[in-house]
Amino acid sequence: MFDFITEEHKMIQQAARDFARNEIAPIAEHHDQTGEFPIDTVRKMGQLGFMGIEVPEEYGGAGMDTLAYSMALTEICKVDASHGTVMSVNNSLYCHGLLKFGTEAQKQTYVVPIASGEKIGAYSLTEPMSGSDAGTMASRAVLNEAGTHYVINGRKSWVTSAPYANYIVLFTMTQPELQHKGVTAFIIETDKPGFSRGKTEPKLGIRASATSEIIFDNYECPVENRLGKEGEGFKIAMTVLDAGRIGIASQALGLAEAALEASIVYAKEREAFGQKIGQFQMIQQKLADMKCKVDASRLLIYQACLAKKQALATNGRYSMEASMAKLFASESAMWVTTQAIQIHGGMGYSKEMPLERYFRDAKITEIYEGTSEIQRMVIARSLTGLR
Ligand code: CAA
Repeated sequence: MFDFITEEHKMIQQAARDFARNEIAPIAEHHDQTGEFPIDTVRKMGQLGFMGIEVPEEYGGAGMDTLAYSMALTEICKVDASHGTVMSVNNSLYCHGLLKFGTEAQKQTYVVPIASGEKIGAYSLTEPMSGSDAGTMASRAVLNEAGTHYVINGRKSWVTSAPYANYIVLFTMTQPELQHKGVTAFIIETDKPGFSRGKTEPKLGIRASATSEIIFDNYECPVENRLGKEGEGFKIAMTVLDAGRIGIASQALGLAEAALEASIVYAKEREAFGQKIGQFQMIQQKLADMKCKVDASRLLIYQACLAKKQALATNGRYSMEASMAKLFASESAMWVTTQAIQIHGGMGYSKEMPLERYFRDAKITEIYEGTSEIQRMVIARSLTGLR
């Protein structure tokens, strides 16, 4: 039916499915409960090419397209969204931006080890007082007199993978008076003086992915590590988020698929009032609506993947399609996981089944990489051209 899905796409989907079932499923519950970062399986995902799916082979990646990335990520998240979070940040928030805006030397030094999974990448935009209004940050980068280094000071928050990241793409202000036109992007090496990590966030869901604050105290960033031109940072951040939002939509789809599949099995097994619960119309209605939302999410993701392919070829944008996929898939995942718990009753509420984990993990997809409210803003602005 979908002739844009090739044998290659199906192969990476199957490889991700097998890996998730064999290697991640046995440890997912433990890592959710303890909050330990699953460094060994993350490294293995790198060896299998999952950490740089769209990165060309000459830069250490798998050289595939966005649909391949989305299909693989969905399979990983179907088993454990925490592993999916680390994978999505490496692929779309980190590698995509460096490939699009980096110099050849930056790609060789900072993409190759991340795409191969040897090292971990992160993306840092948010600050304690700057979230959805990303253009209002308080951190600063000031060029030294010799013009060799920027001196960076400030505090960034909610940085996914920061506790383990070797390199971080940082967005900070070089000319605050210009507001969003004064934002510049930098590649940060986390083992250099002046960089430190703040507290790791205790989270409701995706508990095995590590999120923390990062602190810059007179960190000296060489001019060669500026990503793009001065003042280009906001556009780089937004361009990268468009790619990231397809990833989060795929993560949400994986969670919703897992919750639906578990509910179908349970509806066929569990009996009440002398019949299978799947024979009750109220359960049938839930299953039917869950299936429609899952498939509609997948179709919006396909649309966004195709729009991105076209936009990359024409230097255009696919912001609206990416936001539509993220908005719909994340709200669907929240709804579908809620219904799945309801269908399972007490068992759904118990930690003996993974449904309550899917439900907790689904919530973040409505928040990070742009809240549902921000996605609606992007979609409506794209439709009207009004700000
Ligand atoms: N691609 C390219 N350029 C873009 C763009 C995009 N997607 N979106 C905006 N721009 C450009 C505009 O064209 C405009 O350019 P000009 O100045 O040349 O005209 C410029 O950027 C400013 O655009 P806006 O006036 O639309 O900007 P705004 O301040 O109104 O903000 C917004 C728009 C959509 C609200 C944006 O700020 C936004 O997306 N906010 C949410 C931020 C977000 O997602 N944060 C989470 C980040 S990371 C995270 O979650 C943690 C993690 O580790 C995963």
